Amino acid sequence: MKVPHEWHKGFFDNSFYNPASPAAVEKAPAEAAFVLKQLKLKKGSALLDLCCGPGRHAVEFAKKGLAVTGFDYSRDYLREAAARAGKKKVPLRLLRGDMRRLKFRGEFDAAVNLFTSFGYFQKLSDDIRTLKGLARALKPGGLFLIDLVHGGFVRKNFRPRFWHELEDHYLLEDSREASGGVFNTWTRVPKKGGRALSRSFYTRMYTKASLGAALKKAGLRPVRFWGSFGGAPLTGKANRLIVLARKKG
Ligand SMILES: C[S@@+](CC[C@H](N)C(=O)[O-])C[C@H]1O[C@@H](n2cnc3c(N)ncnc32)[C@H](O)[C@@H]1O
Repeated sequence: MKVPHEWHKGFFDNSFYNPASPAAVEKAPAEAAFVLKQLKLKKGSALLDLCCGPGRHAVEFAKKGLAVTGFDYSRDYLREAAARAGKKKVPLRLLRGDMRRLKFRGEFDAAVNLFTSFGYFQKLSDDIRTLKGLARALKPGGLFLIDLVHGGFVRKNFRPRFWHELEDHYLLEDSREASGGVFNTWTRVPKKGGRALSRSFYTRMYTKASLGAALKKAGLRPVRFWGSFGGAPLTGKANRLIVLARKKG
């Protein structure tokens, strides 16, 4: 399995994968409500949705009266986020860039990074660089909520190969454990026939300890951990790793 260098720059487009599947869009309002309960922001507060993708959470935040900036690398997804905001009649500031090169300075009351949109770089130093940029983007005392797949759960329940049935296609996931993370190849097979498409990617597997340490390196102090958007505690059985952290201030 060969994962292309900088795979994340070529993986996220509508011809292959869209994180805003009907099922994921349906879950977004409840997930956004959980996030907002933790962030306790006043109307008009500035919120950064780092790696906002097609904006399924960003529009929910904007509907609650927050000044939302969505940041992402994928042109396809940013176009979709703009269309979604237009349809819901909410303002959304959308910016394109690489999460390792954030230029914001003390602009945001809070930030979020949702649905495993972190841990894509094979150099841990790139993850730390991203978190440092994110910390610089926050006002002193600003909050950051991050939601990742739980590395502890993935390692314990590792399945090297399995099929999913999705709306219009079957998806084969091939995975291989590597130091610090997992290499994956997804193969999409359209139900109506046609060419199968494969793309490979890497995800660093974070645990409570390793994510806590990375956040601290960037000047963000973890304050709470959960194992689901329902607020379940983070145990070995939890498949999500959700952390609330605060910038020193
Ligand atoms: C799994 S998707 C999640 C999107 C969105 N948060 C959601 O929940 O629907 C990961 C997102 O990270 C974005 N991304 C990947 N690499 C990036 C990078 N280097 N800089 C900025 N965004 C990136 C992708 O374009 C994609 O939108």
